[in-house]
This record gives sequence, C-alpha cells and structure tokens, in this order.
Amino acid sequence: MKIAVLKETAPGERRVAATPETVKKFVALGARIAVEAGAGDTASIADAAYAEAGATIGDRTATVAGADLLLGVQGPEPSSIAGAAPGTWLVAALNPFGARERIDAYAGAGLEALAMELMPRITRAQSMDILSSQSNLSGYKAVLDAAGEYGRAFPMMMTAAGTISAARVFVMGVGVAGLQAIATARRLGAQVSATDVRSATKEQILSLGAKPIFVEDVAGIEGEGSGGYATEMSPEYQKAQAELVSAHIAKQDIVITTALIPGRPAPRLVSDAQVATMRAGSVIVDLAVEAGGNVEGAVAGEVVERHGVRIVGHRNVPSRLAADASALFARNLYNFLSAFWDKDSGRPVLDAEIGDAIRLTREGRVVHPRLLA
Ligand code: NAI
Repeated sequence: MKIAVLKETAPGERRVAATPETVKKFVALGARIAVEAGAGDTASIADAAYAEAGATIGDRTATVAGADLLLGVQGPEPSSIAGAAPGTWLVAALNPFGARERIDAYAGAGLEALAMELMPRITRAQSMDILSSQSNLSGYKAVLDAAGEYGRAFPMMMTAAGTISAARVFVMGVGVAGLQAIATARRLGAQVSATDVRSATKEQILSLGAKPIFVEDVAGIEGEGSGGYATEMSPEYQKAQAELVSAHIAKQDIVITTALIPGRPAPRLVSDAQVATMRAGSVIVDLAVEAGGNVEGAVAGEVVERHGVRIVGHRNVPSRLAADASALFARNLYNFLSAFWDKDSGRPVLDAEIGDAIRLTREGRVVHPRLLA
C-alpha cells in the first residue's frame, strides 16, 4: 500500500494533508508514504521532518507513480496526477458541487474519488469531519482578523487616563465556527451576543456567557433540518429576523457571520442599509463569503470599506492558520483511513454507510446520487 501526499497547488492554499505525526501512524499500519517535495513548506513542515517520520520525498511524478491512495487538502488538477493508475483512491476536499468538470475527469481516469466534506454527521465519524475541524479554526481566526482591523481594544480597560469600554461583538450563525468565535471574543474581553435559526443553539450561547438574540413567536421558527444542519426559513421568519437584527446591529462594533445552508447559497443576513447604521470604524467578518456571502457588499478575498465599516472577506480562512489546520485535517484523514484499515489486505475497506456517502467516482463513472440527480 503506497500513500502519496500531494503538494497543494490551488492559489492561497497553505495547508498540507499529512504531518510527520500521521506519516508515522500510517507507517505503523504497514503503509509506505511518499511526500511530494515542499508539500509542508507553507505549513512550517520541512521535507526532512517527513523523511525522519519514514516518508520518501520526491517530485510529483515519482510521488504519484505506483500509489494506491493520493491524499490532498483540495482536489488536484487532473492532468497533474495523470500517472495514477485506474483504481487509485483520491481522498481530499473535492468540492463536488463546485468543481464538476474535475470530478468527471477523475472518473475518466478511473480514480475512486472520495470527498471528505461529504462525511456523514454521525457519532463515529466525528473524528473524521474536516468541516468541523476547519470551521473551529475559522471561527477563532475570524475574531482575530476582526481585532486586527478594529481601531479599538476588545476588553474594557480602566486606566489612569480614563476608561475604554468593551467592544460589542455579535455572532450570526452558531454552528462550529460561531461557537468558537463566541468563545474567542469572550476570552478577549468583548461583550458578546449571538443568533441562529436553530433554537437548540440558545443554550449553547448562554453556556458560553453570551446573550442570545432570537426571533420568538413566528411561524416556522424551528430551523433545524437533517444532520443538525439549518434549513431555509419562511418569509415571515426572515422578515422578523431582519427587524430584530437591524435594531441590534446598529449598536454593535464587530459582527461575525458564519451562516451556511448545505447545498444552497449562504443566506443574506446583513444588508447595505444595516451596514450604514453601524458606527464608523466597526468591522464585519463574513466567513460565508465564498458561499455567496451573508453580508451585502462583502467581496471574496478582499477587505472593503462601506459607510466607514470594514467588511472582511478572506478566502480559505483555515489556511490562514496553516500549521494547526493541517495538523487537524491530517488527523481527520488518518482517523478515517485507519478506522477502515483491513489488516489482511493491508489497505482500507469502506463500509456502505460512509463509503456511499463520500464516494464520487468509481470504475470510470460518477456514482454519487447527488451528482447524478
Ligand atoms: P454550518 O456551517 O452549516 O452553518 C453555520 C450555522 O449557521 C449553523 O448553526 C446554522 O444553523 C446557521 N444558520 C443558517 N442559516 C441561518 C440564518 N438565516 N440565520 C442565522 N443562522 C443561520 O453548520 P456547522 O457549523 O457545520 O454545524 C451545524 C450543526 O451540526 C451543529 O449543531 C453541530 O453541532 C452539528 N455537527 C455535528 C457533527 C457530528 O455529529 N458528527 C459534526 C459537526 C457538527
């Protein structure tokens, strides 16, 4: 069993799909590991560290040649892995609904492409869930990015020269990223409030010492769909939410938005008119910017200023913490593959519950139901 670790080539991608720790663990399972030269450079991992852990280091061609399994953070350009034999597994975040041409090309090459972001949200797969591990870091980094753009301090400070009041931070969308954003903003001393469409999050907000801001008494209030994810809300709810948020947002210094609905564009939560009500120097971080954005005027990959308010739209936020994001991503991959490791054949053998959920292509064809519909 040869596992190849690819160097990422997508613009701005600084993460890597294996670390010396996971290389050692794969070696202990009996696998041979080949790491593409320089794969860990942007995550502060030197080739020598991989070599010491038991990997061989080579160029892309040598790395891919004879591999049974390719590991990446994002899906590689199909032509760059042309040396992979039919039947080779490709395991990465493959963006199945946004990069369809690539998926077709993987099928054409006979690869078995496994999309890690489709990992089902079941208890036994929690340690394999890249969306959770990466969102957690995004929520943390969003608060630091906001603090970096903000021309004031977060905590209340009583000094001989006078008192500085605490920053007011409002977190919209309290999933994995939102919870970490609340915790981080609280640690920095901000006064934190938060909202979500899933009423189950109210308790979680309170337990982190923040104030829940929730629409009450509106039809269709329970926004929880399958797998713990949000559903799209009724027009009545959206109107009530907009009114509540308008009044609240005008008093906030920092707004962090994280709201996503699987398979749909991100919901629009903050309008340009609402941005205009915030005081000059306020900061908004839109973590959903790459999914269409929660904030009107947010631009992916840019920090823009509207009505004196900075709107931060960094792409690929986990990659801005490349070392930790890589460590967790690599462990997700190891936890996944090792859970299915078959000692007799010396390779992973998937079961139907997880295999069918994440497998996009097999034996020359696209096989995932959501890609065939
Ligand atoms: P997500 O990234 O899909 O969405 C972020 C948040 O935005 C969610 O809390 C969602 O309810 C909220 N949202 C959507 N539309 C909104 C709107 N119009 N206004 C305000 N908020 C809105 O969600 P994420 O972070 O992936 O987690 C969702 C849930 O799944 C959580 O309860 C989490 O605990 C659960 N989960 C379960 C796992 C497992 O069992 N293996 C693994 C990871 C998460």
